[in-house]
Amino acid sequence: GKGNYRHFMEKELHEHPVVIGETLRQYVDPATRAVALPPLPFNPAIVPRLTVTACGSAFLAGLVGRYWIEGLARIPVEADVASELRYRDPPLAEGGAALLVSQSGETADTLAALRLLRAGGQSVLAVVNVDESSMARESDAALLTVAGPEIGVASTKAFTAQLSVLACLAIGMARARGTIDAVREAALTAALLELPGHAAVLLEDGATIHALAEEVAQARDVLFLGRGNLFPIAMEGALKLKEISYIHAEGYAAGEMKHGPIALIDPAVPVIALCPSGPLFEKTASNLQEAAARGGRIMAFTDALGAPALRRFAKHVIELPTVDPFVAPILHAMPVQLLAYHVAVLKGTDVDQPRNLAKSVTVE
Ligand code: M6R
Repeated sequence: GKGNYRHFMEKELHEHPVVIGETLRQYVDPATRAVALPPLPFNPAIVPRLTVTACGSAFLAGLVGRYWIEGLARIPVEADVASELRYRDPPLAEGGAALLVSQSGETADTLAALRLLRAGGQSVLAVVNVDESSMARESDAALLTVAGPEIGVASTKAFTAQLSVLACLAIGMARARGTIDAVREAALTAALLELPGHAAVLLEDGATIHALAEEVAQARDVLFLGRGNLFPIAMEGALKLKEISYIHAEGYAAGEMKHGPIALIDPAVPVIALCPSGPLFEKTASNLQEAAARGGRIMAFTDALGAPALRRFAKHVIELPTVDPFVAPILHAMPVQLLAYHVAVLKGTDVDQPRNLAKSVTVE
């Protein structure tokens, strides 16, 4: 049941700390704090290419995985939504591997893509939440997320659990390829292991996001911006907001704004920015300043290091804990999901069963 929560989605949002912790416990050795993956169906040291495919939020988790795997393990990754990949007749690399991401393990397009990739000679690794699902059975190996049942149609804890698995996978593959040293690996696992604590603190402070939600609930259109591994989280924020509050939202790469969407900017369009300190901070901040100069109402998620610069032009600056940029997508996924939740509650929509949507899309 929902316990003391109003909606399953609210309950599932509050499970983030436990779910991230449990998922990491599967893939990080508690004694050495080093990533420990089960045997993979391909050798990461020599695999020439990875194809990542999935649908919806699971695809966005896969896109973050692409940034992580390419960045750390230096393996070329192609990523495409399953409904496109399956009809593209993509040329597949000899000896290549595929990575599928799915909460249910039953999504029709992702399952069809899995079969196509296997038939094309790819070794298939599935990141799934349901261990007796079709995808868990039909893949060559499965890495389970430990999210428990997710009832709300909007994916929340399954998404952060997928990211947690993909982060460990990227670190483990980087070690196998010799593209990461022990010091860096220890720093990354330490950053991952701190996330449950950060999640708990974030969930305790409901008031900040609630105040933001009251403003966002008035909007007709919302723009989410992020760069690098936060670009997929900007798209996740937009997807979640659309799906449960029915407000039109778009997630854009911050640097793409001036190639079109900047034309939309006016004070009525909130611009929600994911802009923590790190190597991309200055670039994103300057995109935001351009939007502010055109009357844009900037609401920025950042950290203590980024906040002072953003406060000069942003309407709201929300400080999250300072983390290694590698884990920023997991940290930022939570407030954007919470924001969508609060906006939907203010709008009075059916949060757990939004119109026109099914939890598991088993027809194409
Ligand atoms: O069960 P799956 O993870 O394969 O489902 C994929 C998508 O249908 C799903 O993530 C959908 O986008 C969610 N409703 C997003 O909140």
